[in-house]
Amino acid sequence: MATVSIRHLGKDHGATPVLGDVSLEVADGELLVLVGPSGCGKSTLLRCVAGLETLTRGTIAVGGVDVSTAEPRDRDLAMVFQSYALYPHLTVRENLAFGLKMRKVAPDEIARRVAEAGAMLGLDGLYDRKPGQLSGGQRQRVAMGRAVVRRPKAFLFDEPLSNLDASLRGQMRVELMRLHQKLSATMIYVTHDQVEAMTLADRIAVLSKGALMQVGPPGELYGRPANLFVARFIGTPEMNVLDAGLARAAGLTGELGPEVRHVGVRAEAVTLGRAQAVIGEGPSALVEVVEQLGWEALVHVTVGGLRLTARVVAGEAPRPGDRVRVTLDESALHLFDAGEARLERAAPRRERA
Ligand SMILES: Nc1ncnc2c1ncn2[C@@H]1O[C@H](COP(=O)(O)OP(=O)(O)OP(=O)(O)O)[C@@H](O)[C@H]1O
Ligand SMILES: [Mg+2]
Repeated sequence: MATVSIRHLGKDHGATPVLGDVSLEVADGELLVLVGPSGCGKSTLLRCVAGLETLTRGTIAVGGVDVSTAEPRDRDLAMVFQSYALYPHLTVRENLAFGLKMRKVAPDEIARRVAEAGAMLGLDGLYDRKPGQLSGGQRQRVAMGRAVVRRPKAFLFDEPLSNLDASLRGQMRVELMRLHQKLSATMIYVTHDQVEAMTLADRIAVLSKGALMQVGPPGELYGRPANLFVARFIGTPEMNVLDAGLARAAGLTGELGPEVRHVGVRAEAVTLGRAQAVIGEGPSALVEVVEQLGWEALVHVTVGGLRLTARVVAGEAPRPGDRVRVTLDESALHLFDAGEARLERAAPRRERA
């Protein structure tokens, strides 16, 4: 396996800039998840790394070797797309072996690698079937198997699980993590899916309009988002973001510095108390909607014209129309300035690594 170094990468389509100035180092054996809204340039970035797009600016190196202008086949990377194309007339075994045959790998070596990949991905018993005789998840595993047998320097995945239903996605996510651990493989993985990003990633890179917003471990992006965009993008439900002046006026926060324009607070840091039980503590709020999610519930309230979402244990959820008192955990407030960049204050300061 190998490192992938993306330096000052820029990509224009005609006169339209798609990627600005992207620099990203993916470590050997790292699983880096790339997330961002539709159209922000995730696929373009991956395609640049794969060699399917020419670079407008910047360089890409794999394992320390500059591949900026190399042909895709010479980069030794395996790409798995959302719409994986298996050869319909070939069996699973033949599909797995196809790329190796093309590369003139010796037959006994092909057999060995196919058996190994098949065992890893649970394809035993399916080798003689054609793609039409497989379920969606099985087909997806064959597509991954085709990438695995190649022993590439790195894997590039572009939303490979988005065609699958929730249960299969869950299973495949676990398969993928196993695969990553077994192969200690360098992987760049694009997804829209929050859960996928948080659970799979060693580090997450958040892309917006062709620019990187923040790169870091999932916990860091969740706990210390560098700006309002990342704060809103990472985490479900979306972080509550309040105008600082209005939050202060509503009695939700104490005095905040003049540089603070936005206050963010995650749903689990919003505490609801019975209005009667804690008289005097926190402003009174009206419960509008309650979403029951099984063991927890999301409670949407309004307080002083502001909307807030609280995460509570299902059995303790109030009812729509109830009045409750709201308190925010001061130590869990995220503060942002007029430029939407994070301000350090409320949370204990931890130096960046
Ligand atoms: N060949 C092209 N010519 C012109 N514009 C293009 C071309 N390919 C992509 N784009 C534009 O570049 C931007 C980034 O596209 P890209 O496919 O990388 O987005 P994405 O982040 O993968 O989105 P999604 O999550 O919807 O897959 C989009 O605005 C898209 O319209
Ligand atoms: Mg895409």
